[in-house]
Order: sequence, then structure tokens, then C-alpha cells
Amino acid sequence: MTRAEDAVRTVRDLRARVAAWRDAGETVALVPTMGAIHAGHLSLVALAKAQADRVVASLFVNSLQFGPREDFHAYPRDEANDAAALTAGGSDLLYAPDASEMYPPGFSTKVSVNDLTEDLCGAARPNHFDGVATIVAKLLLQCAPDIAVFGEKDYQQLLVIKRLVRDLNIPVEIAGGAIVREDDGLALSSRNAYLSPEERKIAPVLYQNLCGVAGELEKGSSADDASTAARAKLEASGFRVDYVAVRNPDTLEVLQGQVKDARVLAAVHLGKTRLIDNVPVPLQAR
Ligand code: PAJ
Repeated sequence: MTRAEDAVRTVRDLRARVAAWRDAGETVALVPTMGAIHAGHLSLVALAKAQADRVVASLFVNSLQFGPREDFHAYPRDEANDAAALTAGGSDLLYAPDASEMYPPGFSTKVSVNDLTEDLCGAARPNHFDGVATIVAKLLLQCAPDIAVFGEKDYQQLLVIKRLVRDLNIPVEIAGGAIVREDDGLALSSRNAYLSPEERKIAPVLYQNLCGVAGELEKGSSADDASTAARAKLEASGFRVDYVAVRNPDTLEVLQGQVKDARVLAAVHLGKTRLIDNVPVPLQAR
């Protein structure tokens, strides 16, 4: 059960619960989250459940991955609701440590993945991926799952975590889950709650434009032309564009000219809200 009152709060208790499952011969999957649970998170729980006997969902709003002017304090927090949603979604255990458990006094170790993090979201959010890599390394070492599941919604993050696990020989399989979207195409995100009704109407234009770029690339347009056109369209729709990029789907290297196999990634601001999204090339039907 993952009722808030049943959550485990310490590494010691987490390890005891996981050890009992292991003694019974069961496999374990971990789904790390920062809460504000929505259907995107729950799709990862379902994926985890399909691949392991037991699912641990973690809930920790990780201060280390937020910049000084970002929304750490405003980030939506409702553990009771999150616990109920995770239980209904099939999670067996909620791990919701306090900040003092994760970052005790004197905490001074940082995990940095240097490749993959310099541009795209890394350019706009310095230190963000160090914060992600550090907390994910800790969660993987604390829980020691067989498999850990992350969403393609944060595509750069997923690649960073795969590299982290490979480079440090952490014995876990990393699985990626497809992006869950609203009917109008907007990718589900905890941050969508910040959008005003007017902004919410405009927001799906981001996904439409990414599909447009993918479609143009499939027709033979160059990566540069397609992304420049998308940037202009997004700006005309009222977005402030951080980046629209066509990249190698495994290495995130810049692609130029005609491309067949790629990922189109974008980050934009709509009012005070930063939205990210991405699509594969060739496009896959939803
Ligand atoms: P959070 O934003 O809560 O996301 C938790 C997981 O849900 C991530 O793997 C993210 O990619 C996935 N996710 C979010 N929206 C999704 C959607 N619409 N469809 C599919 N998956 C989606 O990402 C984080 O937390 C943190 O950085 C974390 C990995 C927990 C480390 O603190």
C-alpha cells in the first residue's frame, strides 16, 4: 500500500522492505518522481509493474536540481493525494524521504555527467543535471532496484541517466516510457498547473509544431530550415522560445541537412511557465 501514512522515510526502512521482497524471490522496479502525480507518472508505474514483481515509487522534490530563480518553493506538493494515486496505479511502496535524509549536514558529493548536459536544457538551467544525476544515483543506490523507469518527456534527462548508470556501473536496467499527452496533444506535466486558461489554450501549439518539424524532415527539409521555421511559428503564437533542436536520438549531437532518424526537442516559455516536449523522427502514431 502507498498511503501517505505508510510511506517509508528512511534509507534503512526502504532497504528492509526491499530485502524482504528479495528474500521472497521477487524483483523490484523503481519509479522516481517529484510528486504532483499525473497520468504520465502512472504510465511509468504501469510499465514498471509489467516488468517487475514489486514497484517502489519515490517522491522527493529535489532542491539540488532547481536554480535559484526557479520554482522549488512553489512546486506543487500534496503527498496524500500522490500516495493515493500511486497506490491506485499499482505501486507497492512509497519512498518519501525528508530533505535531511537525502542531504544530511555536511553533504558534499556531486555526480556530474559532462557529456549530454552542456546544451539544450543544460544551457538554460546550469547545475540542473548535476542535481538530477546526484539524486538519481542516490535513489538507485538506496533502493538497488532491478529496473528503474523514466519518461521520454524529459528526453535529455533519460539519456543523462542512462550514461550515469553505464559510466558508474550501477547494476540496474534503465527503461524509458512514452510521453502521455492530453487529448489536444499537450504533454502532461506538473507544471501545466501554472498555466492560465488563456495560456492553456495556446500550449498544445508546441506539440503541433514539433510534429510539423518531424513531418517536414520526413519530406526532406533540412534540419536547420525546419527548426528555424518552427521557432518563428512558435514566437508568432506567443511563446518565448528557448530552443527548437534536431538531434541524434542517442547522443544529442547536432544534426544538419536532411535527416532520417532524429529527435526534435524544444523548450519554450509561456508567461511564467517553462514547457518542454519532444517527438521522434520518423513520427510515431499516438
Ligand atoms: P518528475 O518531473 O516528477 O517526473 C518523474 C518522471 O515522470 C520522469 O521520469 C519524467 O520524465 C516522467 N514524466 C513526466 N511527465 C510525463 C509524461 N507526460 N509522460 C510520461 N512520463 C512523464 O523528472 C523528475 O521528476 C526528476 O528529475 C527526478 C527524475 C524524479 C529526479 O529528481
